[in-house]
Order: sequence, then C-alpha cells, then structure tokens
Amino acid sequence: MKKTLTLMALMLALSGCQSGGEAEQPAPLSMRGEVPVAASSPVAPVPVYPAKGTSVERSVLAQPPVIPHKADYPINLDKNSCINCHRGGKHKMAANHFEAGKVDGQYYQCRACHVPQAQNF
Ligand code: HEC
Ligand code: HEC
Repeated sequence: MKKTLTLMALMLALSGCQSGGEAEQPAPLSMRGEVPVAASSPVAPVPVYPAKGTSVERSVLAQPPVIPHKADYPINLDKNSCINCHRGGKHKMAANHFEAGKVDGQYYQCRACHVPQAQNF
C-alpha cells in the first residue's frame, strides 16, 4: 500500500514537471540554424591535363615535379604502373628513388609527393 502511494506521488510529480516544461520548449531548430539550404553547387570541372612533355617549371629547389599527364594509374600491392614507365629511359625517376637497383619502398606511393598538374579553369 505504502509502495503504491509513493509510486502515485512520483507519477504526479513527474507529469507536473512535464506539463510545466512543454510551454517553455522552443520550436525545434535545424542544425543549420536560420540559414536556408543553398542552391546546389556546380559540378567541379573535369581536369584538363597538358599536352605531353610540358611539365611546369619547379618553383623551389628539390620540389617533386608535378605530373604532366593523367595520374590515376593504379598503385597497389600487385602493381605500380608509374614504375613501368619511369624505371628507366628518358623520364627515369630521380636516383634517390632507387635502393640497390629497385624502387625504394619509401618512394612507392608516388602521389604522396607528385601531384598531377591540371588546368581546371
Ligand atoms: C604510359 C607511361 C607513363 C605512366 C604510366 C606514367 N608516366 Fe609519368 N611521364 C611519362 C612521360 C612520357 C613523361 C614526360 C612528359 C610527357 O610526355 O607527358 C612523364 C612525366 C612525368 C613527370 C615529370 C617529370 C619531370 O622531370 O618533369 C612526373 C613527375 C611523372 N611523370 C610521374 C608519374 C607518376 C607519379 C605516375 C603514376 C601515377 C606516372 N608518371 C605514370 C610517362 C608515364
Ligand atoms: C618522398 C617523396 C617522393 C616520392 C614518394 C616519389 N618521388 Fe619522385 N621525386 C621526388 C623529388 C623531391 C624529386 C626531385 C628530385 C630532384 O630534383 O633531385 C623527384 C623526381 C622525380 C622524377 C623526375 C626525375 C628527374 O631527374 O627529373 C620522376 C620522373 C619521379 N620523381 C617519379 C616518381 C615516381 C614514378 C614515383 C613512385 C614510384 C615517385 N617519383 C615517388 C619526390 C618523391
């Protein structure tokens, strides 16, 4: 009996709190606040790579030259297409990229240093 009474008192108290709180509750706001949704932004331009053989001049000494051609060649555990073309010949990688005749592991992720050069405007 005592338990039931306590429970009822508790429920009354709680409902009192709730009805009192509701009046002061502000209208729900969006996380954007008052800022309206902007018109959708235009699609980024498709990158245009320069014609072959025109790498822009380096602006600082020892700057990794930018890639003057498309740069989405696969670099993964099985193959590195950049190495296929750049292990020798006219466009051989810098000497420090090699370790005992093989490409040094530290230089395997070419795009960590070399960025593609694209005309995007
Ligand atoms: C199909 C062959 C081929 C592949 C694959 C290739 N390249 Fe090249 N790369 C060239 C040639 C050829 C040039 C010389 C410029 C030209 O003719 O476009 C060049 C130029 C460059 C240069 C400029 C060198 C300089 O001295 O200015 C960099 C840097 C470069 N490539 C990095 C890369 C990277 C990084 C990858 C992989 C994402 C890659 N290349 C994949 C053929 C290739
Ligand atoms: C840790 C940064 C780094 C990584 C990773 C790297 N390079 Fe380089 N690379 C450089 C720098 C710096 C130079 C300029 C060296 C110089 O001028 O002495 C360079 C130069 C070159 C050159 C021009 C060489 C010349 O004599 O003009 C080519 C081509 C090249 N890298 C290709 C690659 C390829 C392909 C890979 C991936 C297998 C690669 N690099 C990974 C930093 C890097």
